[in-house]
Amino acid sequence: MATSVQGVVARRKGEPVSLETILVPEPGPGEARVRVQACGVCHTDLHYREGGINDDFPFLLGHEAAGVVESVGEGAGSLAPGDFVVLNWRAVCGECRSCRRGRPWYCFSTRNAAQKMTLSDGTPLTPALGIGAFAEMTLVAAGQCTKVDSRARPEAVGLLGCGVMAGIGAALFTGEVGPGDSVAVFGCGGVGDAAIMGARLAGAHTIVAVDRDPRKLEIARELGATAVVDAASEDPVEAIRALTGGFGADVCIEAVGHPEVLKQAFYARDLAGTVVQVGVPTPEMRIELPMIDFFGRGGRLKPSWYGDCLPSRDFPVLVDLYLQGRLDLDRFVSETIPLSGVEEAFAQMGRGEVLRSVVVLGR
Ligand SMILES: NC(=O)c1ccc[n+]([C@@H]2O[C@H](COP(=O)([O-])OP(=O)(O)OC[C@H]3O[C@@H](n4cnc5c(N)ncnc54)[C@H](O)[C@@H]3O)[C@@H](O)[C@H]2O)c1
Ligand SMILES: [Zn+2]
Ligand SMILES: [Zn+2]
Repeated sequence: MATSVQGVVARRKGEPVSLETILVPEPGPGEARVRVQACGVCHTDLHYREGGINDDFPFLLGHEAAGVVESVGEGAGSLAPGDFVVLNWRAVCGECRSCRRGRPWYCFSTRNAAQKMTLSDGTPLTPALGIGAFAEMTLVAAGQCTKVDSRARPEAVGLLGCGVMAGIGAALFTGEVGPGDSVAVFGCGGVGDAAIMGARLAGAHTIVAVDRDPRKLEIARELGATAVVDAASEDPVEAIRALTGGFGADVCIEAVGHPEVLKQAFYARDLAGTVVQVGVPTPEMRIELPMIDFFGRGGRLKPSWYGDCLPSRDFPVLVDLYLQGRLDLDRFVSETIPLSGVEEAFAQMGRGEVLRSVVVLGR
């Protein structure tokens, strides 16, 4: 029987979200029901509400979450009720052409629950990124649940489910930052700050943080930036060259999602360096570069989907690093709020007041 719980729904484009009763079906084959304990408020949730992702309203928002498995359907593998899990939005299929070639982090056919959660009148909901975790309970594909050490704080490690993993992975996996590298990170929100932490974990020598908001630059310094550049008052390209012996950084990570910033990242890079684009553009954005610069500067330009992570491989390791005190995920939790606080959290995000507001549900 379906279970009715409270969830945060975006009913129409641009309208404030509302707390609604939703119905969560019992898990079918390959599915799991999870009691959500914590879920971060990410920019992508706001993009959904504003119709920036697609028009499949109503949306059940929330996708950076941790919780406990309540029940599983057949074929859920080793996943069992009681497991403490972080949810992921790229459950790899193991069968597509990319998985078969041994590159599951690019999986072209990632899995979600087959059944729909609905409003109480039966209207089907579209869960954000196939998760929908601003709810007391959600239904996902079993592969979207990654079991991690249950001693971790859900509000901190749930953030690995999206922005923090995307940022850490942008540095570690997409950018392949290594010991002694110089790195510049453009945009120091949750994603950029996580990229800074990833660069630090990888042994980067110089980590330059770029943002237009001095409050963000201060936090970036706390998390490991060795220098900061205020893009509102300085030219980031010149500043980064000056900080890297006149050459530019080995790896430049764009974590804003803006063509001008991508251009800055392109030119702030040393010859044969790497540009990683983890910020998400809108469909109308365009970039134009002299082809001679594209060729002449060499190196690599790499988009980063979810930090090229593999949740089953990476979440447990990162949770262990967190428990050892080597990954300060707690610093990302600016405040904890109830389900009814999501709309206000969007406003705070717009004003740049928070890294992450995190919805915490009764335990
Ligand atoms: N690739 C992925 O898998 C993935 C996953 C999650 C999020 N994202 C994307 O990453 C981006 C960042 O997400 P977030 O949660 O950190 O957002 P955020 O809003 O918290 O942070 C963005 C930061 O960029 C700064 N900024 C804005 N314009 C700037 C400019 N011109 N120069 C320098 N800094 C500037 C802002 O002050 C802010 O600190 C978004 O586009 C988001 O959609 C991508
Ligand atoms: Zn696949
Ligand atoms: Zn997200």
